[in-house]
Amino acid sequence: MKLSLENKWVLITGASSGFGAAAARAFGAEGAKLLLGARRIDRLKTVAAESCAAGAAGAHVHALDVSNTASVEKFVRWARKKILDPRSEFPNLQVLINNAGGAHGMDTVAEGRDGDWEAMIQSNVLGVVRVTRAALPLLGRAAGASIINIGSIAGHGVYEGGAVYCAAKAGELQITRALRLELLGSGIRVGTLDPGLAETEFSLVRFKGNAASARKVYAGMNPLTAGDISETLVWMATRPAHVNIDELIIKPVDQADFGKVFRRSE
Ligand SMILES: NC(=O)c1ccc[n+]([C@@H]2O[C@H](COP(=O)([O-])OP(=O)(O)OC[C@H]3O[C@@H](n4cnc5c(N)ncnc54)[C@H](OP(=O)(O)O)[C@@H]3O)[C@@H](O)[C@H]2O)c1
Repeated sequence: MKLSLENKWVLITGASSGFGAAAARAFGAEGAKLLLGARRIDRLKTVAAESCAAGAAGAHVHALDVSNTASVEKFVRWARKKILDPRSEFPNLQVLINNAGGAHGMDTVAEGRDGDWEAMIQSNVLGVVRVTRAALPLLGRAAGASIINIGSIAGHGVYEGGAVYCAAKAGELQITRALRLELLGSGIRVGTLDPGLAETEFSLVRFKGNAASARKVYAGMNPLTAGDISETLVWMATRPAHVNIDELIIKPVDQADFGKVFRRSE
């Protein structure tokens, strides 16, 4: 039977755009109570309002930089206060979605920049373990409590110009697998959702605001949408409590592999 998320707490990192924002709206539509973090607070406030309009039982926002331990700990202390039911000794987080991250640049190793490499490892790899370490004490009292990490098909292969992003997402995959072993017996579910090409702000960030380069990534093909991902996240989190969706790859029909994309001529 589908697990209900009504009035359940769901924490989403990177909720200010793309998959995270769509997830906030989708979990909101299930009647969940949301804890949303990212660096852009104004964007988070808009997403919170949209989530409430979609049916969320509550949506709260707080600044979060997953690349900074102090910021993560402050965010999780804030989340704990929100979650703590005065009648209960234990906080009860139902779903943690480690989504914050992205790619920076597409340079070869020979031409790569330290700043881009560090940002990718900080957010996609260290961000996942930092947030998980801090939030774990909030999880585990509810049947079917879940940690869902957002990986990528980049964690399953490589392409030129993607060395560090692919390494980071491969790191996310291995962290998910280790956590799955470490949490065995706790009842906490651990999974990763690994998308292929999806049109969000991802490419705009990767190409440092160059809209033409970002558009080219999706030219002539039908990419996934943020809604495709959020729908799948809700599906993963609402499986019966004994079911763990471990690793799920989702790609557009027009993408068979990294460089193997079907494009219609204009
Ligand atoms: N789109 C794709 O094709 C694709 C495919 C596979 C995997 N992914 C992964 O999916 C996840 C979401 O990406 P998206 O496609 O939705 O891109 P997006 O629209 O650029 O969203 C990225 C989100 O991550 C947040 N973020 C980035 N760095 C952060 C940090 N240091 N601390 C806190 N939040 C941070 C951003 O918020 P702020 O900037 O406001 O902090 C934003 O909300 C990423 O992990 C990405 O690697 C994307």
